[in-house]
Amino acid sequence: MNNFVRVWLLLLVLHTLALAVVARRERRNVLFIIADDLRTSLGCYGDTVAKSPNIDQLASKSQVFLNAYAQQAVCAPSRTSMLTSRRPDTTRLYDFNSYWRVHSGNYTTMPQYFKSKGYFTMSVGKVFHPGIASNHTDDYPYSWSIPAYHPASFRFEKKKMCKGEDGELHANLLCAVNVTEQPGRTLPDLESTDEAVRLLKSRVGDDTPFLLAVGFHKPHIPFRIPQEYLSLYPIDQMTLAPDPDVPKLLPPVAYNPWSDVRRRDDVQKLNISFPYGPIPKDFQLRIRQHYYAAVSFMDAQVGRLLSTLDQLGLADSTMVVFTSDHGWSLGEHGEWAKYSNFDVATHVPLIFYVPGVTHYQHNWLGMSTFPYIDALTQSDLSFKNDKVIRNVVELVDVFPTVSYQAGGTAPEPCPDVSFQEELCTEGNNLAHTFRHRERRVDEEAVSFSQYPRPADTPQVNSDLPDLKDIKVMGYSLRSWDYRYTLWLGFNPKTFQVNVSDVHAGELYMLAGDPGQDSNIYSNSDHSVVMTKMASLPRTVSLQMRMRLQLLYLTAGMKTGRRKA
Ligand SMILES: *[C@@H]1O[C@H](CO)[C@@H](O)[C@H](O)[C@H]1NC(C)=O
Ligand SMILES: *[C@@H]1O[C@H](CO)[C@@H](O)[C@H](O)[C@H]1NC(C)=O
Ligand SMILES: *[C@@H]1O[C@H](CO)[C@@H](O)[C@H](O)[C@H]1NC(C)=O
Ligand SMILES: *[C@@H]1O[C@H](CO)[C@@H](O)[C@H](O)[C@H]1NC(C)=O
Ligand SMILES: *[C@@H]1O[C@H](CO)[C@@H](O)[C@H](O)[C@H]1NC(C)=O
Repeated sequence: MNNFVRVWLLLLVLHTLALAVVARRERRNVLFIIADDLRTSLGCYGDTVAKSPNIDQLASKSQVFLNAYAQQAVCAPSRTSMLTSRRPDTTRLYDFNSYWRVHSGNYTTMPQYFKSKGYFTMSVGKVFHPGIASNHTDDYPYSWSIPAYHPASFRFEKKKMCKGEDGELHANLLCAVNVTEQPGRTLPDLESTDEAVRLLKSRVGDDTPFLLAVGFHKPHIPFRIPQEYLSLYPIDQMTLAPDPDVPKLLPPVAYNPWSDVRRRDDVQKLNISFPYGPIPKDFQLRIRQHYYAAVSFMDAQVGRLLSTLDQLGLADSTMVVFTSDHGWSLGEHGEWAKYSNFDVATHVPLIFYVPGVTHYQHNWLGMSTFPYIDALTQSDLSFKNDKVIRNVVELVDVFPTVSYQAGGTAPEPCPDVSFQEELCTEGNNLAHTFRHRERRVDEEAVSFSQYPRPADTPQVNSDLPDLKDIKVMGYSLRSWDYRYTLWLGFNPKTFQVNVSDVHAGELYMLAGDPGQDSNIYSNSDHSVVMTKMASLPRTVSLQMRMRLQLLYLTAGMKTGRRKA
């Protein structure tokens, strides 16, 4: 090593240390990006089909949580839960029809917390679920400094906008369009990105820190997307889900009959029998193609946002969070859409870019952090994630983690019953895990998801029952080795769960069954476990009961470690 290199390296180290010290004291801006119905179909999550170069580039400079799970696999309950850091049993929102502030408790939301700390907070697109669930205002003025923005073109989203083979317009599921022929020559996510870019520019020169939340509508159905993105996924290269049939031992209560998918014009034409289908194979391939194309379209919008941060010189003072409200089945177990407790519906991307922590800026060397990548013209781009966490985490962890990593403090943990507490968290501040690359074997981290049903067999409203119709609640625990789900009697008037009223159970050993197709619940001896559980004091929480049950059920079973 010559002296010049030595001095240069020393300077680099000093610079990095200085940045780390400065960064720790600074309050960071927050760009919070949430996709709609996005499962982990991303390059940075190991999906070899997906083309998501902009999110992959973000991930390469971020802490990537490989095993993050939503609390309920449908939009409004998941978003309200994440943004308040309370589980659905505390928000009491399992459908779309109540506003937590009047229905359960006056909980402080993540953006509201930032606003109370002097941040300028802004919402673009679908962040809170619009409508009753956020009092028709996206919780303005509590959560936001200015009214939430919604793209005008969204009003066409579910209309007859898609040209069919007959040349007529239909309200189809598959809806690849020529954007210049769409009203206003735009689409909702294009408009939201325009507005978010405008808002970012308006913050330049203002010392007030900001939190900008941007909610993209894709890849939610209908797949109304610019047609050119289909070319990234030639249909002859698409494959079916590895497990496209309804598993024999799947309890009927666990199955979601994908009613919203069935309602689209092109799917209705297929005359598919209710509830178990199946969708013809060629159409399955096209759904998968369109879903992936919608992911790439959304990825391009993420790229536009991130490159704007760069151009405005905000990339070293703004933390970026990327996540989704829940996943989406693409034919696994013969299911489509969300509305279940399986990994495909609950597993979500969760990525934190924290300047000075996950990435050191080299702008002083003239390098940009997030150059825009056009997947349509640039291929063979691959990025490496070197900061991944395999521990199981949950979306209720987002609020405390973002608050802490932005340079503030995380809310205190909630007491067992927290309806009266305005500010507390039912999640964990994940900041301490940012330093650990691999899963820590000593950590017994698990995630909890739940899903309500109106009956033990699939009904037209099984996907999304109204609160008053809920009769069974499926509580699901995901550990490293298992997914364990109990479908329990639930009273929607008192919100009481009857732990002795077991409608069905599921137990999947992930080492040999990562797709969760082989239910071994009935192989295990429940009577002993249930008797033990019944003797537990009533104060023991459902979550704790399920952890103990899983321990009993699996004691003696050969566990075997999962590789990925
Ligand atoms: C709920 O919290 C907000 C913000 O802290 C406060 O302005 C409002 O008065 C509270 N409402 C009730 C009913 O307590
Ligand atoms: C919800 O909106 C209504 C109508 O605008 C308003 O009167 C009410 O105060 C809002 N609720 C809360 C808790 O702010
Ligand atoms: C899209 O529509 C415009 C306006 O009708 C037309 O000029 C253009 O050729 C179309 N593009 C494609 C690729 O079909
Ligand atoms: C639709 O399927 C049912 C049986 O599943 C059949 O009786 C009916 O004739 C079919 N209708 C059409 C239009 O194909
Ligand atoms: C709970 O379920 C059990 C078993 O079905 C039943 O005997 C009991 O009455 C139920 N308890 C309540 C409070 O509904």
